[in-house]
Amino acid sequence: MFKVGLIGAGNMGEAIVRGLVNSNTVKSTEIIVSDIDRNRIDTLVERYNVAGTTSNRRVVENSQIVFLAVKPKDLQKTLEPLKDSFKEGQILISVLAGIPVEKIQEITDRPYIVRIMPNTPALIGEGAIGLAYGTLPEEKKEEIKKLLQVLGTVVEVDESLMDAVTGLSGSGPAYVFMFIEGLIQGGIKQGLSHQQARELAVQTVIGAAMMIKETGEHPAVLRDMVSSPAGTTIHGLHVLEEKGLKDAVISAVEKATERSRQLAK
Ligand SMILES: NC(=O)c1ccc[n+]([C@@H]2O[C@H](COP(=O)([O-])OP(=O)(O)OC[C@H]3O[C@@H](n4cnc5c(N)ncnc54)[C@H](OP(=O)(O)O)[C@@H]3O)[C@@H](O)[C@H]2O)c1
Repeated sequence: MFKVGLIGAGNMGEAIVRGLVNSNTVKSTEIIVSDIDRNRIDTLVERYNVAGTTSNRRVVENSQIVFLAVKPKDLQKTLEPLKDSFKEGQILISVLAGIPVEKIQEITDRPYIVRIMPNTPALIGEGAIGLAYGTLPEEKKEEIKKLLQVLGTVVEVDESLMDAVTGLSGSGPAYVFMFIEGLIQGGIKQGLSHQQARELAVQTVIGAAMMIKETGEHPAVLRDMVSSPAGTTIHGLHVLEEKGLKDAVISAVEKATERSRQLAK
């Protein structure tokens, strides 16, 4: 019997396997992965020393916890043939964007169903992960949360807020990439080389984010701390206010959340 099984060994599937193996949370010999693509299986087996198969049924029948990491469009065709293979009390963790627990339950209601929404930094263990416990009983919650922390920071939310998670942290890396791009271009415009501007911009964003995390201060308090009277920062901030940076970001989260709701239908 394997502790963890995974169906769909793509980008997110590999991130989950790598996180589990690298953090020693689960031994590689306790993990089995399946995919329709034999090459993907061979790659994961070679990289992480896990067991591999092209039989999803073998994964379900031999694992305590099953991650489902296929594309949402492949849900029905993947899960339908497996619905009777799940045992009562087994745990199924879905990473499928926009697919409600209820929809999975309609296909199979045997396992406990948990839903998560990771973002791309989960691929390097630095994800922000929204977690809805779905039908999982209270006594299992801590174990599952701990398991998911190999992907990054886990935030528990009611399932009704999963679209908001998608709009904020799911799409969020792209917003930050765009901001960093602006910093780099700004630096280049002022005479820095691309390499210099890139290093400074990336570390500025990492450092600022870490400061918020470690001090626990409100971002506005930290912003005020670096804005000296008649100084450079307040001049820069004034332009960002004029151009509506914060307003644009709030609207971006709102639009992406709405789009996630639309796609779920
Ligand atoms: N990537 C992200 O940042 C991210 C973030 C949040 C949520 N997610 C969710 O994670 C899920 C996977 O995304 P991904 O980016 O990892 O996709 P992906 O790279 O395409 O991985 C999905 C894998 O599942 C395989 N597959 C398809 N049908 C299958 C079946 N019936 N049985 C077994 N394997 C099957 C696919 O093979 P083929 O390629 O041959 O079809 C592919 O190797 C999606 O539902 C997505 O919503 C991803």
